Amino acid sequence: MSPCYTDPVTRPTLIAANWKMNPPPEGWNAIESPYRQTDGVDIVVFPPFVYLKSCIAAGLRTGAQCGHPEPAGAHTGCISMAMTAQEGCEAVLCGHSDRRRDQKETDNFIAEQVVAAFENKLFAILCIGETEKEREAGREREVVERQLQSVLDLLQSTTYNLQAIAYEPVWAIGTGRNATPEQAQEMHAFIRSLLPETHQSATRILYGGSMNAANAEELLRQPDIDGGLVGGASLKSEEFRKIVAVAAVHHR
Ligand code: 13P
Repeated sequence: MSPCYTDPVTRPTLIAANWKMNPPPEGWNAIESPYRQTDGVDIVVFPPFVYLKSCIAAGLRTGAQCGHPEPAGAHTGCISMAMTAQEGCEAVLCGHSDRRRDQKETDNFIAEQVVAAFENKLFAILCIGETEKEREAGREREVVERQLQSVLDLLQSTTYNLQAIAYEPVWAIGTGRNATPEQAQEMHAFIRSLLPETHQSATRILYGGSMNAANAEELLRQPDIDGGLVGGASLKSEEFRKIVAVAAVHHR
C-alpha cells in the first residue's frame, strides 16, 4: 500500500481491524499473523494509542482510532494527527460512532479531522451511519448524507478527496445483527452517488457492524462494498483470518 492508497481502477479490498479499547489479540505479532498485509487484500489495524508503537515495530500497517486536528495544544488526553503520523501511523479513523456518542464529536470537528489527516499524509477512513431510531423513522439516508456532506463541504476548499468511507449503522455495531447485504449495498450505492463524480469509482466504501467470518462473504460480494471495518471479530485472530481469506477470494 502505501496502505490503501487508492487504485481507482481496482479498488482493492480493504479489511480494517478496529480493536477499540482492547489489547492486541493473541497472535497479533506472529510471523503468520492474519493482521499482516497479504496478497490481494489491504489490511490495517487500529489499536489503542499505547499499542501503536509495538504494532508499527512489528511491521503491521497501523492506524490511530482518532486524532485531534490541531498539531499541538491544550487538549488533555488527546493526540494530534501530526503526532500519530510522526509515530509511523499510516491511517486514521475519523468520526467513529463510538466517539460521536462518547466524546460528542460533531460533524464539523470530524470534517476538520479529515482535512488534518490528509495534511499529515494519513489515510483517513470517515465513519458514518445512522442509529436504530433514525432508521426506524426512515431518516437513514438523510443522516448519512448530512454526515458525509459536512466533510465534502470542507474538502471543497482544499485539494484533497476522500479515499475511504466506512458505513457503520450504529444498530449493527456490537449487536450481532449485521445489516443485510441488500441494506448495506443500497446504502453504499447511495453514499457513492453523493461523492463528486470524478472520485466515485476511486473511493473505497467499507461496511462495519457485526461483520464476521460467517457473513463476510455475502457482504463483500456486493458491488459497492469494498471491504470491512471489523470490531469484535477482529479480536479473535482465527476469526479474523477467515474474514481475510474471504476477502482475498473477492478481491477485484
Ligand atoms: P463490531 O464488528 O463489533 O460490530 O464493531 C464494528 C465497528 O464499530 C468497527 O469500527
